[in-house]
Amino acid sequence: MDPSAVAPPHVVIFPVAAQGHVNSMLKLAEILALSGLRITFINSEHIHHRLLQHADIQARFAAYPDFRFKIISDGFPIDHPRAGDHALTTFNYVKSITKQLLEELVSVPDRPVTCIIADGILSFTIDFAGDLGVPVIAFRTISASCFWTCFCIPRMIESGDLPIKGHRDMDRDVTSVPGMEDILRCRDLPSFCRVADLSDWLLQYLTTQTLQTTGARALILNTFDHLEGPAISQIRTHFPNLYTIGPLHSHLKSRLSSSSPSSPPSSSASNSLWEVDRSCIAWLDKQPPKSVVYVSFGSITTLTRHDFTEFWYGLVNSGRRFLWVLRSDSLPEGSSGAVPEELREAAAERGCIVGWAPQEEVLHHGTIAAFLTHSGWNSTLESVVAGKPMVCWPFFADQQLNSRLVSHAWKAGLDMKDVCDREVVERMVNEVMGERKEEFAAAAGDLARRARDAASEGGSSWDNLDRLIEDIRSMKPSS
Ligand code: UDX
Repeated sequence: MDPSAVAPPHVVIFPVAAQGHVNSMLKLAEILALSGLRITFINSEHIHHRLLQHADIQARFAAYPDFRFKIISDGFPIDHPRAGDHALTTFNYVKSITKQLLEELVSVPDRPVTCIIADGILSFTIDFAGDLGVPVIAFRTISASCFWTCFCIPRMIESGDLPIKGHRDMDRDVTSVPGMEDILRCRDLPSFCRVADLSDWLLQYLTTQTLQTTGARALILNTFDHLEGPAISQIRTHFPNLYTIGPLHSHLKSRLSSSSPSSPPSSSASNSLWEVDRSCIAWLDKQPPKSVVYVSFGSITTLTRHDFTEFWYGLVNSGRRFLWVLRSDSLPEGSSGAVPEELREAAAERGCIVGWAPQEEVLHHGTIAAFLTHSGWNSTLESVVAGKPMVCWPFFADQQLNSRLVSHAWKAGLDMKDVCDREVVERMVNEVMGERKEEFAAAAGDLARRARDAASEGGSSWDNLDRLIEDIRSMKPSS
């Protein structure tokens, strides 16, 4: 008998090997596994090793007997520091092995491949899979607004919005991205648009990858309809098969509770690549309600000595309590992470520093009043779901645009982009936690309710996921 006639659809999931990408794609993988689909998750050896060390992936995925990891190299030895320009080398290496990798996966007996969900910046997958007769669904892990802005880069060049003409041009309004005219200034464009030379490789690479997404059968975005309405309706005109199914971390929790109402999901389920230091939860437990600002700049951001000192002074001078995540690799090599001498006493009284925190749990903790964040998309969505106002200090990529959404479109916080100054840190933290706290808390609370509704049974993201699963079930597996 033909095994594909009875077997569940088999989805191969192919993320870029980085924390933000793997985190959201692994959540999608779990949701699909929970819905009865057979999953193969392609993971780099380096990331897999770190997930085994620091996350509970083995136990979590053992619950799904049809779930498998396929481990590949990212072109570097497992213990390589992967600092600096390794990303381009990795992209080129992964591209060079993808054809053979997919051929191998489709030829596994009894596991015919129904479709591939590929990271939207690995769009070369679309052609390779097409040659094998396997459809590709693209998944971009950034916001819809940033995806749409990237899609409009050729339009921005044609209209003269790009290139940006130096520092003095940064506050000019960008008018050639439909639906975003009231939001975007040059400084809010993704950081790779800040180049004088339009042939810059990263600008070219990300523009091409974004445009090539149109060759995919469908597009998945980790967002929800209410959050980014204007961008989503524009994207729909180019991608009729658009599935907005986020926030994925909240959606996964809803699906887990609905599949097993008697055992609610653990709040500590994590896809962390670093050792989580839970001592910060014990510290938070001792603080007064809504008194702490949580400070974290994600998994890639690095701080200069200057930034580091300004944040120290700003946080201590604000007089607020703070929990600060400082990764071991976030400061320049050889520089110390020591507290400036004159701040030691105040810092010890009011601050807690850890190398990596259980972020989702921290954001839901009753003592957290606000989030000082780099505006990575996962962090932004986690803060939205937890209903926490944000002070944004975007570092690179989509973060420049996400922070503008927070401050301008959603009015759920403040944006300090392009400035790192102790007085600005102090003023913004105090505005969000003091003078304007009601206003920001109300906006953030409203977003949180809407996010939870979208990702609960009957909500827009829940229904869109059901449609996605139906679409996958209607596909004919490769033979
Ligand atoms: C990168 C880019 O920086 C980001 O802009 C893009 O949207 C995705 O890829 P990253 O720096 O990893 O992301 O930030 P973010 O997307 O916010 O993801 C960080 C993840 O690490 C979050 O899920 C967060 O919960 C987790 N985290 C962070 C922890 O679990 N503990 C911490 O201490 C810090």
